[in-house]
Amino acid sequence: MNFRPDPVLFTPQEFRAQSPEEELRHLCALAHLAPNTHNTQPWQFIVHPEELALDICLNRERVLPASDVIGRQAVISLGAALEHLFIGASHYGWQAAFIPEPVSKEAVGPIAASQSETSRFTRIGRVKFTPGAAGSPEESGLADSLLRRKVIRAEYDPARALPIEFVPALTAELAKRPLTLHIVTDPVRRLMIAEFQAQADNFVINSKRFSRELGEWLRPNDDAGPLGMRGIEFGLQDQEALRLHRGLTGDAPLLPEDGLRFSLGGKIGLEKSPLIGLITTPGDTIADWITAGRALDRALLIATRFGLASSVHAGIVEVSLINRMFAVALGTTERIMGLFRVGYVKNAPDAERPFSHRLEISQVTLSATGKPTP
Ligand SMILES: Cc1cc2nc3c(=O)[nH]c(=O)nc-3n(C[C@H](O)[C@H](O)[C@H](O)COP(=O)(O)O)c2cc1C
Repeated sequence: MNFRPDPVLFTPQEFRAQSPEEELRHLCALAHLAPNTHNTQPWQFIVHPEELALDICLNRERVLPASDVIGRQAVISLGAALEHLFIGASHYGWQAAFIPEPVSKEAVGPIAASQSETSRFTRIGRVKFTPGAAGSPEESGLADSLLRRKVIRAEYDPARALPIEFVPALTAELAKRPLTLHIVTDPVRRLMIAEFQAQADNFVINSKRFSRELGEWLRPNDDAGPLGMRGIEFGLQDQEALRLHRGLTGDAPLLPEDGLRFSLGGKIGLEKSPLIGLITTPGDTIADWITAGRALDRALLIATRFGLASSVHAGIVEVSLINRMFAVALGTTERIMGLFRVGYVKNAPDAERPFSHRLEISQVTLSATGKPTP
C-alpha cells in the first residue's frame, strides 16, 4: 500500500486538459507534500472550481496541545503548504494571489476532537488563481523539488562546501519578504545554537506532557498510519524506534541512552551542519507565522534544488525562554520563527530514507458544498 499519495508533475498541456476541479485538486496534492509540524498535516483545502480558488483552513484537531499551545507551529505549516501551492501554480503558468482572512489567535489554538464540528476548521485565507500568466522559470525550476523534498535528520558533512550559488539564491529570494534571514556558518555560533537546541530537547524529554505527545507522534517503524513520523525518519532501527515511542509515551521506562541519543542527534546535527538558517519576523502575529512558514518552505525547496539535504528544528522557536535568550545571543529584537539546517549527508544511505506518510488527498480536501472531493 502506498502511504504517500504521489502526484506527478504534468506538462502544462496535460494540466490544462483537466477540469478546473481536477486542476485545483492536483495543486492541493502538491501542497499536501509540504513540510509540517510532527507530520500532523493540519490543513484542509476547500475547492471552489467556479472561482478557480482554494480556501486554506487549519484543522484545529491537529494542533498539538502540549507543544503548540497557541497553534503557531500549525499555522507555520499552513504557510509552507501555501508556498507549495504558489510554486505548483507557477509551474503551470498560473498566477496565485493570497487573500488572508482576518483571524484571531483564539481561532487557531488546539481543540479537542469532541468540540463542535463548526469550530474544527478555521479559514486562514483564500488563494485565487489566474491562468495564462507567464510562469517564472525560477519558480518552475522548484516544482520538481516539491516532489523530491523531505527532511533528512542526519549528520551532514561539515567539511563539504555548499555550492557557491546557494546562499545568494536563498538570500535574494527571501530578501523580498517581511522577515530577516540570518545565515550562520561559523563553527562557534553553530555550537552555540546546538547548545540551545539541546536545552530545548531536554526540556521536552523531561516534561511529561511534552514527551507523551511527542511519543504519540513519533511512531514505530512498522506503523502504517498516514500521520506522524516513524523512527526510521530519524535514522532509528526498529527496536530503538519502538523503545523511544514507548518510553516517551510512558508505556515503558525511557532508557537514558534512548533519551540521550534523541537529544544528542539534534545537537550534533546542528553543530556539524555547514549552514544554519534562522528566520526572524518583526512580530508574532498570524501573518508573521504564515510569512515564516512560506519562507521556511522556500528555503528547504531551494536546498533540494541544489541537491542539498535539509531539516527543521522547532524546539528553539517554541520553548519561549530559550527563544528569547537565543534572540539576544543572535543580536536581534525580532522573534525567531524558524530554524533549518542544510548540508550534504555524511553517510550516503541517510539520504535514501523513506518519505514520510500522508493522508489520502480526499481526506484533506472538501468541495465548496462541504462534501469530500471524490
Ligand atoms: C513548522 C515546522 C516545525 C518542525 N519542527 C521539527 C522539529 O522540531 N524537529 C524535526 O525533526 N522536524 C521538524 N519539522 C519537520 C517535520 O517533522 C516534517 O516536515 C514532517 O514530519 C513531514 O516530513 P517531510 O518534511 O519529510 O515530508 C518541522 C516542520 C515544520 C514545517
